[in-house]
Amino acid sequence: MSADNEIIFQEKIDAGLKIEPKDWMPDKYRKHLIRQISQHAHSEIIGMQPEGNWITRAPTLRAKMVLIAKVQDEAGHGLYLYSATETLGITRNELIQQLQTGKAKYSSIFNYPTLSWADMGAIGWLVDGAAIVNQQSLRRTSYGPYSRAMVRICKEESFHQRQGYEIMSKMSNGTPEQQEMAQDALNRWWWPSLMMFGPHDSESAHTSNAMKWKIKRETNDDLRQLFVDRTVKQADLIGLEIPDPKLKWNPETKHYIFGEIDWDEFWEVVNGNGFCNKERINNHINSHEEGQWVREAALAYSEKTQNGVGNE
Ligand code: 3HC
Repeated sequence: MSADNEIIFQEKIDAGLKIEPKDWMPDKYRKHLIRQISQHAHSEIIGMQPEGNWITRAPTLRAKMVLIAKVQDEAGHGLYLYSATETLGITRNELIQQLQTGKAKYSSIFNYPTLSWADMGAIGWLVDGAAIVNQQSLRRTSYGPYSRAMVRICKEESFHQRQGYEIMSKMSNGTPEQQEMAQDALNRWWWPSLMMFGPHDSESAHTSNAMKWKIKRETNDDLRQLFVDRTVKQADLIGLEIPDPKLKWNPETKHYIFGEIDWDEFWEVVNGNGFCNKERINNHINSHEEGQWVREAALAYSEKTQNGVGNE
């Protein structure tokens, strides 16, 4: 029976059909999705910390409101993605445990410190810009709930990227100090943003299955190239210089050639030795514990209303 199921499953994938929670799916496909979607959700939630750090320091009321709206969006993205993961038969508690014990990863980019207001611009412009390239591709992923979550998330990401680029544009056209701050932020966030797309395809443990099952529709390197080609032009427009001496336009391929990523740094940060790894997880553990009473109250209320009690 299982061999027939596998054939029918792959035929559905090859035909571009969506796989839904109640459909038969190979265990490996399910596990691959739980790993990727939950780590995507963890990234959204941990990603709230570096930017949250600047809400009280925003230079204007408008900037504060925009940043609060963005950080709040990220919480919602995490919620959609945790909900999509739960459709695969794993509980929220298990997912949180995996994050807090280091069993699950989140994007390495969020382990870098945010040192100036320009970092809010660089994160919106580069990190959300990279996320948009990746997530636009994931709108066509084969798993239904993930694909639908991506459609919704992509709508909000474009606001995130634009607000970041607006900050960088204002600062790079501001005082010499602001220009310097914007260039410094670009220098610190450029290479970690390229790392968001993962290892080279030849080094990727999961890309071959991900492409076979149409979980990924483009490879890590293809998406990274798309991001570089798009972003270099945006930097030129606002007079900022990409920190890569090897960056060069190739008129034949119509793509930028760029330098090699520091993969030692990448794996150091992925394996827990980045600037902020410990702080990010400790903050998550603390706020999760502080929020225990909210979860208990919400559960108690929902049980009461379900039993029809509490409306007297
Ligand atoms: N940070 C941390 N770990 C990374 C990583 C990164 N930047 N890139 C790759 N890895 C990990 C993978 O998780 C995998 O480890 P695992 O087996 O323990 O899960 C290992 O390195 C090998 O990488 P692969 O390329 O083989 O793994 P994938 O096929 O899963 O590809 C990915 C990695 C491209 C990140 C893919 O998982 C993906 O597209 N995920 C969904 C998008 C996502 O998670 N984005 C993170 C940022 S979210 C964000 O930016 C929010 C925005 O609003 C700011």
